[in-house]
Amino acid sequence: MNWFVNDRFGMFVHWGPYSLAARHEWVKTREKLTDAQYQPYVDHFSPDLYDPAAWARTARAAGMRYAVLTTKHHDGFCLWDSDLTDYKAPRDLVEPFVAACRAEGLKVGFYHSLIDWHHPEFPVDGTHPLRDVQPLPERDISVYRRYLHGQVRELLTRYGTVDYLFFDFSYSGRSEWWGGKGPEDWGSKELLAMVRELQPDILVNDRLGIPGDFVTPEQYQPSAPMPSPWEACQTLNGSWGYDRDNLDYKSADLLVKMLVDGVSKGGNLLLNVGPDGRGRIDPRATALLARIGGWMELHERSIRGCGPAEYPAPADCRYTRRGDRLYLHLFSWPLRHVHLPGLAGKVRYAQLLNDASEIRLVSTDPDQQAQNTRMGGQAPGTLTLELPVQRPEVLVPVVELFLE
Ligand code: GLC
Repeated sequence: MNWFVNDRFGMFVHWGPYSLAARHEWVKTREKLTDAQYQPYVDHFSPDLYDPAAWARTARAAGMRYAVLTTKHHDGFCLWDSDLTDYKAPRDLVEPFVAACRAEGLKVGFYHSLIDWHHPEFPVDGTHPLRDVQPLPERDISVYRRYLHGQVRELLTRYGTVDYLFFDFSYSGRSEWWGGKGPEDWGSKELLAMVRELQPDILVNDRLGIPGDFVTPEQYQPSAPMPSPWEACQTLNGSWGYDRDNLDYKSADLLVKMLVDGVSKGGNLLLNVGPDGRGRIDPRATALLARIGGWMELHERSIRGCGPAEYPAPADCRYTRRGDRLYLHLFSWPLRHVHLPGLAGKVRYAQLLNDASEIRLVSTDPDQQAQNTRMGGQAPGTLTLELPVQRPEVLVPVVELFLE
């Protein structure tokens, strides 16, 4: 778990035939497409611009330290040369991804869908593209289960050390999905035991329907620290797969605030890109990651190895802490002063992190009366920082506090 809570920031990559449809990775079920109707995307999936080294460089430059690739998504299409199916990419696309990650010093992660809308023995349920086809075909999930376990074994025995595994997803009891599927369907206990046997140090998420090593809030920011190690997985525009006409992109400063907010609550951020059908990360995504990278270049130590602090943060601010360093992240820039409850006498020096310029510490007598330009005293134990009027030109300004 050490690398995970140290690195804090990773890249999620959703890529497959749905990238050619370019209208969300659930296109097959949203449009209730048959295998034949979905086949053109499979037939035309030949990514001539696929350059995983460029992906890995983009991730590294953004400040990410691990990367997670969809080996198979819900459509059942495999990006590696599985012996168990022909429903796969024209060549092994996973091996070069793994090699590129290692070359950039990134930890390697695999996403693997438990759901499979292509496998002939995956019973149709409310999520399935064929849910309206009557009569429903008789299917034997035990056959699919063996296939699932067999493919996971392939992935965990062919590419060396795999550091992270994101199964997706269990949905037991979901009435809208006809009762859904869960641990019994996947054989989760046996599957997890096999995973741990093959890769003893691997981290596995919480979506097998049984406890994993970390929990995975999705597309929302937890409002408080979560009970166990956690990682929020987030999109740039709401879709995981490449979604050409979806321009609902988050701003760079919002994305940095999501990263900081998560770390201030003890969590990681897994930020997604959806490369297009040719294998290129689209320019809007690349530009956003580059801006985040610009901020990380100056502020990395306020994220790496940091976690929550025990002090209450002022309004519109977050704290991250590592040892005797406390980082005050200012989501909005106040006029001249910010008051830090509980920190009086606890800070020996302070500076803006982006340029190491000193920030003056002010302790006011709590009984001091306000008069004209002299402000009144703050609550006992409050430390006040004197800020420049000009907000530093960074996505999120940070004051580094050196604790006594
Ligand atoms: C959800 C989506 C799936 C996506 C995953 C990422 O399960 O259904 O498409 O891959 O989240 O976390």
